[in-house]
Amino acid sequence: MNNQCLSIVILAAGQGTRMNSSLPKVLHLIGGKPMLSHVVDTAKSLNPAQIMVVFGHAGKTLQAAFYDASITWVEQPTQQGTGDAVAKALAYIPKDHRVLVLYGDVPLISPKTLSLFIASTPSDAVGLLSVHLTNPEGLGRIVRENGVIQKIVEERDATEEERKIKEVNTGILLAQASDLTALLTKVTPHNVQNEYYLTDIIGLAVKAAIPVIATAPLQNEEVLGVNDRVQQACVERHYQIETAKQLLTRGIYVIDPARFDLRGTLDAQSDVVIDVNVVLEGAISLGKGTRIGPQCFLKNCQIGDNVTIHANSYLEGATIDNNAVIGPFARLRPGTQLGENVHIGNFVEIKNTAVGVGSKINHLSYIGDAKVGKNVNIGAGTITCNYDGANKHETVIEDDVHIGSDSQLIAPVRVGKGATLAAGSTLRQDAPPHQLTLTQQIDCRSLNWARPTKDVKQTDSVPASDPKDIYRE
Ligand code: UD1
Ligand code: MG
Repeated sequence: MNNQCLSIVILAAGQGTRMNSSLPKVLHLIGGKPMLSHVVDTAKSLNPAQIMVVFGHAGKTLQAAFYDASITWVEQPTQQGTGDAVAKALAYIPKDHRVLVLYGDVPLISPKTLSLFIASTPSDAVGLLSVHLTNPEGLGRIVRENGVIQKIVEERDATEEERKIKEVNTGILLAQASDLTALLTKVTPHNVQNEYYLTDIIGLAVKAAIPVIATAPLQNEEVLGVNDRVQQACVERHYQIETAKQLLTRGIYVIDPARFDLRGTLDAQSDVVIDVNVVLEGAISLGKGTRIGPQCFLKNCQIGDNVTIHANSYLEGATIDNNAVIGPFARLRPGTQLGENVHIGNFVEIKNTAVGVGSKINHLSYIGDAKVGKNVNIGAGTITCNYDGANKHETVIEDDVHIGSDSQLIAPVRVGKGATLAAGSTLRQDAPPHQLTLTQQIDCRSLNWARPTKDVKQTDSVPASDPKDIYRE
């Protein structure tokens, strides 16, 4: 769609005091993305001539969070109401434009609803998006006479009778810039909040014989506003359930949409299965037939086909090739690259390490800053001692190596191709290829040392050991 003469104004200057947070309201997240980003992205999908964001006290924080050249920022120095906010933006909008007003705290409004709204509002009319709610508490009521819209009355200014009206204003509005400018100049702050209400233009339009048309959104939940944490949690859950439904429609089996959380983007292929309580963050891709067990957390991971991730695994910044098996209780940290058919078992932590095709690290190990070749078997309790207290060092384990259980590899160190390291080894120097390496324990004793005993006076006690006295066998 091309809307060459459409200006979109997003209102985001309100303080959001009911959130009880130091973060500006429109920067709070829904699905891992600031509410304002949802609205800006939806606005962009309509291809308008311009997008304006009206900001207030949190302007610098907002602009720092949005490096977006396509946004025109308009300051509203004091928050005198939604009418005043729109008036500030109108100063920069050509008179022949149509103006679509969106709210930064109504994040789920869909491009489809807005396209229908624009298409169904005649160009000489003022369009309103309205919904019928069983509980309209807190919202502006649409007052009709014989079915014809007369005005909007805010709850705080409404009579008992008006408060019974179930049709409410979503806040989303469309009008000609010239009409808006003319109508807003007549708005006064004579109401309970002493604010310039945008909603007052409806009654003024009726008086000026400008048609007022109300349209309904495709789904009522799209126009849910966020004014406090309770509403944020409601909007978040609705967003997640809708996201899960879209995935289900595409053949991705989200076992329970009520226990699914995507806080970023998911590119998933057919026959992917996502069990309950899985949290996906950042950019995630899942290949065909990949299965994620219950209670897993994945952040910024690229995962191939037919990979199995068992329950309670935590993966961040990992790239995993086809047919790998991970977990349960595995932790893959940034820089992990697993080749095809790799098996990573329980209580294994991997960091900044490439593991070659067919290798197995099945139990209780830490492998960090390493290169592990193909068909390597790393026994239980193996540790790459990569950190000397100041710097990190690399461990290289070449193809076909077997590392016995309970081994420590003190980096920098290399285990040659086809080598076997005996169980319980502490490897301090390179192990040659195709050989068995057994490391001997170095026993250290202090010649003059004796364990202090309880009743011996300080003067009679044996002196503390001196490093010179260390005797090595
Ligand atoms: C507003 C509508 C109400 C509607 C409801 C839907 C008015 C007077 N009332 O009430 O009819 O049912 O939304 O959610 O419009 N803002 C500014 N500058 C201001 C004041 C507000 O930019 O001076 C922004 C806020 O950041 C917010 C939006 O405008 O994004 C709405 O303001 P809010 O105070 O939440 O209005 P409501 O009381 O919800
Ligand atoms: Mg609001």
